[in-house]
Amino acid sequence: MAESMKGMKRTCRAAEVTADMIGSEVTLMGWVQKSRNKGGIIFVDLRDRSGIMQLIFDSKETEEECFSKATKLRSEFVIAVRGTVRKREGAVNEKLATGSMEVLVNYLRILAESETPPFPIEENSKTKDEIRLAHRYLDLRRPDLQRNMKLRSDVAYYTREFFHDEGFMEIETPMLGKSTPEGARDYLVPSRIHPGSFYALPQSPQLFKQLLMCSGYDRYIQLARCFRDEDLRADRQPEFTQIDMELSFVDVDDVIDVNERYLKYLFKKTLNIDVPTPIPRMTWIEAMNRFGSDKPDVRFGLELVDVSEVVKDFDFAVFKNALSLKDGSVRGINVKGQGNMGRKQIDKLVEMAKGMGAGGLAYIQLKDDGTVKSSFAKFMTEDQEAALIEAMKGEKGDLLLFAADRNKIVWNVLGQLRLHFRDELGLTRKDDFRFLWIVEFPLLEWSDEENRFMAMHHPFTMPMEEDWDKIDSDPGSVRAKAYDITLNGNEIGGGSVRIHQNDIQEKMFEVLGFTKERAWENFKFLLTAFKYGVPPHAGLAYGLDRLVMLMAQADTIRDVIAFPKVKDASDLMTEAPSRVDQKQLDELGLEIPAEE
Ligand code: AMO
Ligand code: AMP
Repeated sequence: MAESMKGMKRTCRAAEVTADMIGSEVTLMGWVQKSRNKGGIIFVDLRDRSGIMQLIFDSKETEEECFSKATKLRSEFVIAVRGTVRKREGAVNEKLATGSMEVLVNYLRILAESETPPFPIEENSKTKDEIRLAHRYLDLRRPDLQRNMKLRSDVAYYTREFFHDEGFMEIETPMLGKSTPEGARDYLVPSRIHPGSFYALPQSPQLFKQLLMCSGYDRYIQLARCFRDEDLRADRQPEFTQIDMELSFVDVDDVIDVNERYLKYLFKKTLNIDVPTPIPRMTWIEAMNRFGSDKPDVRFGLELVDVSEVVKDFDFAVFKNALSLKDGSVRGINVKGQGNMGRKQIDKLVEMAKGMGAGGLAYIQLKDDGTVKSSFAKFMTEDQEAALIEAMKGEKGDLLLFAADRNKIVWNVLGQLRLHFRDELGLTRKDDFRFLWIVEFPLLEWSDEENRFMAMHHPFTMPMEEDWDKIDSDPGSVRAKAYDITLNGNEIGGGSVRIHQNDIQEKMFEVLGFTKERAWENFKFLLTAFKYGVPPHAGLAYGLDRLVMLMAQADTIRDVIAFPKVKDASDLMTEAPSRVDQKQLDELGLEIPAEE
């Protein structure tokens, strides 16, 4: 029994009804949140994007036909009503913006009926993710997701506004591109016209935006869709959106300057939060040494302490072995007030550390009763123990945890344990927004897997002039003109000054193990373009989804994406990816091996 809305026109949204409209007539349309029939009077909560308004059908005042129709209303029916706004007669609902008003209905149409939804449409749903995601169109009706989508829309709007006013041009770059090495895994699209050939979906518009600089568009911005075939995490999706920019005739400080003003503008406009500027900067090495992470959460302490010097003479093989390694160290964290932990809890921490790649986790427990318990007590003298506790500023009640290994592992283990205690002990607040630039990243990163250096950011990142003479003797020590913008322990964006000199670019490819031929084969268009006058340029890209996730104080990136994928990269609603017809495969010249 779906009626048309012919002749009816919505006057405003449900929660846009204001007190000065009391006494006047409104026409509202939306969904039935709930309906309670109290005999002669029916209460209906009408929901739309703006919120909820209580509707009253009163058998004494409403026409009989309208009243009897109202008795049929069920959750999620779509209705149109005409009625008079009045002060709420029953108890005022403090939770609703419109809680002091109601609409006495004199005309009702049922525009669509609804089956009982598989889960209630409510804030902070307790329904399992899988069920909600399979019915995402219903999930998206929930007020928390609607708020997130509104915030996301506002972020996109103010981003475009800010950069437009700063003289940036929005230019779209292709989705169907060329697969190039040195990134994450590509999503490939087979070509019908060129059987056996593939397009790659862009991991980012990186090379295109550099070409735009060659073409003279000296300030570019794009809200760009990107695709990476990586394993999913809470802050990672296979397709995501970047706020991507590139600027000509600039250096690090110029990029940082415009972005600090952008973040200030964005947070003020959307959340009414003042971001203090300048945003602090920290070098990569300081971040690693103090926080064990290149995206440190600086909202709390629990910093790493390098105790290599203090323990170097301990008769403890674990420490000795670590210190004999090229990049080896022993470092610790002091977990205040956790010294009385039971054995089981300690064992759990050791297991966690092992799971992160450590050989183990050494500890000293400073118990409240004054006793000291240590997993390596027999390998140190009393004086040595005292010196180590002092170096860690250990006091009664503290738990001292130590990792000994190559720096990379030590940083990772202690950095992650730090975050574990942050969450376990509730050391931070989500509405405390702490931005931090990380600068002076290493240019290269050694890959054990590939047995060669890889670009830490990407192969077009400019080395720091003062380090360039070490590119042959000690490539690992060369720093880059690269920067990340981090927020509360998340990398929300990253970028760099680009190489625009052919000799440096060639050297870079050589260090990365490319032959000249292979470099040309893969990046011919870029290297050729650079022969015709390339301006110095630099850029940055934010993960828009990640940024909005943090702004919305959401727990996962899925909560700010309308139609996200789950952990195995599938879409539970459309059931993509899916098999295709044999005809489609034939057209593409593709053969799928028969299943065993
Ligand atoms: P980068 O690879 O650091 O840099 O990406 C920029 C930002 O994009 C976000 N991001 C992601 N968000 C969600 N899901 C993912 N799978 C994902 N991967 C990355 C992160 C990250 O900081 N072209 C360069 C930028 C430049 O140099 O200008 C680039 O893509 O927040
Ligand atoms: P073991 O002599 O092997 O029993 O180790 C003594 C202590 O050192 C135990 O608490 C181990 O968990 C710890 N340990 C082992 N390897 C490491 C490591 N790489 N870093 C820190 N502690 C470790």
